[in-house]
Amino acid sequence: MKDKKSQLQAESFYAVKWNAGVLTLLDQRKLPNEVIYRDYNSAISVADAINKMVVRGAPAIGIAAAYAVVLAASSAYQNSPSDWRENVEEVLELLAASRPTAVNLNWAIMKMRQKFETISGNPENDLLDLAIKIHNNDITSNYEMGRLGSELIKPNSEVITHCNAGALATGGYGTALGVIRTAHQKGLLKKVYASETRPWYQGARLTSWELKQDNIPVSLLVDSAISNLMQIEKISWLIVGADRIAANGDIANKIGTYSHAVSAKHHNTKVMVVAPSSTIDMKIDSGKRIPIEDRPTKEVTDLYSAKTFSNSIKILNPAFDITPASLIDYLVTEKGIICEPNAKKMLTIFG
Ligand code: MRU
Repeated sequence: MKDKKSQLQAESFYAVKWNAGVLTLLDQRKLPNEVIYRDYNSAISVADAINKMVVRGAPAIGIAAAYAVVLAASSAYQNSPSDWRENVEEVLELLAASRPTAVNLNWAIMKMRQKFETISGNPENDLLDLAIKIHNNDITSNYEMGRLGSELIKPNSEVITHCNAGALATGGYGTALGVIRTAHQKGLLKKVYASETRPWYQGARLTSWELKQDNIPVSLLVDSAISNLMQIEKISWLIVGADRIAANGDIANKIGTYSHAVSAKHHNTKVMVVAPSSTIDMKIDSGKRIPIEDRPTKEVTDLYSAKTFSNSIKILNPAFDITPASLIDYLVTEKGIICEPNAKKMLTIFG
């Protein structure tokens, strides 16, 4: 395979990297205790890595899927140069189904598939060029959203973020954490709080780790402490990412975002959602129609800690929830900021 590299990001770590025909993913399940990179050379193994949370975060799984399409098409072409397009479909479907809520996954596969028609001969180089472009565009968008979002933040602000919407969840720099990084560089932040984000602890394990690498002080809270924090301290912003944004401005994001947004409304804390346009799904008219991933119940009982309760009781483990547009003050994308998003404003920019 061509010796092309994907990398524009400034961090010392990366979630997704392509180098000389191999896709490398940072195993985020092991952070922060171990930094383990794993190599992948088949699309099926990448689908499994996405499903099992080796790589997570909507933009990062979209980018990983784009590289997985390169692997799939390349192998299908080697097996049968005349009908690689048909032969690759089954594995693309498997890849698309690996996580249902984050629309970036389908978006990236759709972009890669559109390219198929323009290719003659071996698809590897053309598809790899596109995957690298998707990756690099994501990083560029994150810097732009960081710039735009930080312009909304006043000096001395205290912010809360939920889950991990940082470099680990994207091509690099991050969406919500991109805004927080830029605001920190501008000296605008008094305090940053991260909620732990059960059951995978993305806030506790990943956001805290990422911010520490950048020397951005962060305090960690259990998820149920967020309303209390808003009650006793003036929190200016709740800043989060999104996995899918419907045409009316409703967003799906990590379970718990909705309750944080309800508390924010009550305490006059502004809600900023930061996401690239690849997260917007104009085909879905309302958040009510966004598919919510149900994850294995063992994640509730067995992850990261000694088992403290029986798994014989009924357990629900929805991975995401819907925050209605009415609770969102600003939607920041690389194409601009929408204040109080609604269907009409979304159509103007993304229609
Ligand atoms: O289950 P995860 O860890 O993939 O969930 C990630 C989130 O909910 C993020 O907030 C979202 O994908 C935005 S990442 C820039």
